[in-house]
Amino acid sequence: MSDLISVDECEQLTPEHVHDLYRRHVNRSQVSLMTSFGFGRELVERAEGAYLWTRSGRRILDFTGGVGVLNHGHNHPRILAARKRFQELRRMEVHKTYFSPYVAALGHNLAQLLPGDLNMSFFPNSGAEAVEGAVKLAYKYHRGRRHRILRADIAFHGKLLGSGSLTGAHQNFTFPGIPGVEVFPYGDLDAVRRLAGKDVYAILIEPFSASTMTACSEEFLRGLRELCDVHDIVLIFDEIYTGWGKTGSLFHFMRYPGLVPDVVTTSKSFGGGKSSISAYIAREPVFRKAYDNLGDSLMNSTSTTYYGFGEETATAVEAVNIAVEDDYPARARAIERVLAPGLERIRKTYPDTVAQVRGVGALYGIFLDGGPKLLDRVARLAPVGLARDPNFRVKLITCAVIDALYRDHGVYAYYTLNGANPLVAAPPLVVEPADVEYFLDSLDQTLGQGLLRLVTRFVKEKVAPRWGS
Ligand SMILES: Cc1ncc(COP(=O)(O)O)c(C=O)c1O
Repeated sequence: MSDLISVDECEQLTPEHVHDLYRRHVNRSQVSLMTSFGFGRELVERAEGAYLWTRSGRRILDFTGGVGVLNHGHNHPRILAARKRFQELRRMEVHKTYFSPYVAALGHNLAQLLPGDLNMSFFPNSGAEAVEGAVKLAYKYHRGRRHRILRADIAFHGKLLGSGSLTGAHQNFTFPGIPGVEVFPYGDLDAVRRLAGKDVYAILIEPFSASTMTACSEEFLRGLRELCDVHDIVLIFDEIYTGWGKTGSLFHFMRYPGLVPDVVTTSKSFGGGKSSISAYIAREPVFRKAYDNLGDSLMNSTSTTYYGFGEETATAVEAVNIAVEDDYPARARAIERVLAPGLERIRKTYPDTVAQVRGVGALYGIFLDGGPKLLDRVARLAPVGLARDPNFRVKLITCAVIDALYRDHGVYAYYTLNGANPLVAAPPLVVEPADVEYFLDSLDQTLGQGLLRLVTRFVKEKVAPRWGS
């Protein structure tokens, strides 16, 4: 047993050693893919607020926002203090048959903050579990007598077998999934009308799709609500990414007064950047009809191992309080006031490069393109098989820009794997306006170098060695 690695020794591992261990024990292809980027070649020493510091001493502005997890930024002091207090007081972690004051408080707080009778909460650990919990609730609400569930063509709801079958991302392999899933075009109320009926138990939708930067109109969402009322269908809003202020309201749907889904899901920043916790919150009558009897009472809420773990839920209580006290929706709107016009300026400066800029609050997508001529030249840099895929060419351009932002400006960004692969600007809500300006200047200077130059450099230095050319 002497060659086990200790936690202390983890701190001493070099990037090369970590890659090697990943290759042998985690995921070899991930190493090939991620070491194409500067960030795949470095390790992070520490992270605070909107910044992280690499082992090599670089300060990096994190504009990924932790892909929705870091509205509070890295290691928010109040989140750390809540966790430290929990540990110092030796609080109990596993609440199976003892009741947890933190679960009780978290349920209360959510009911306070969400509109209408969205009063009943369930707290698993991942977004996919919250989605699947919501779908099970809807199925049980109809006592298993209805067999169809509707979801949009634009949809990301997770990667487990169930949630994966409700996700619309292009995947090159199909797993078995939930039966009876039918698909409507995002935002198309007439299409939903044609599909809705007495055999549909749920409609699942992201009011704002963070993977494609597309929003449902108010009219569409209110139309869904009406349809669901008419046919007694359970309406589920997936706000796993967009909750806790990201788009400028506490939840995206809350910008529309009086609009109340039957169930809403949340995760990511719900855990304050530290805790892996999610939730679905259901309207009281819906929850009660599904599960509120002694026989079914353990079917839902106490039935996962990590449900209601002490430190996770205590952290979420603090995360929610911070989001409200520090008015995270207002912070997102303040970020938007700098980010939106800045990106628009950049789009106008580089009309051949930036096809579109789209988003809301602190969540924007920059759709890079470069026109057919450039795409054609980019295609010639890649092996024939890959070059034929138009998606691949856009991805390559976007990756080249992300790589240059990181290398030349210390800005960390990502692109979505769904839809048209936009470069995402989604900073933590604790960034300063000056940070947003810095991101905009960095993007401007990067695009100013010209896409062809960026892509050629990226391919030559980072990618071609992997193609063996
Ligand atoms: C809208 C939405 N739903 C569900 C999920 C799945 O969450 P998880 O990855 O925690 O399972 C995500 C994750 O990105 C998401 O953005």
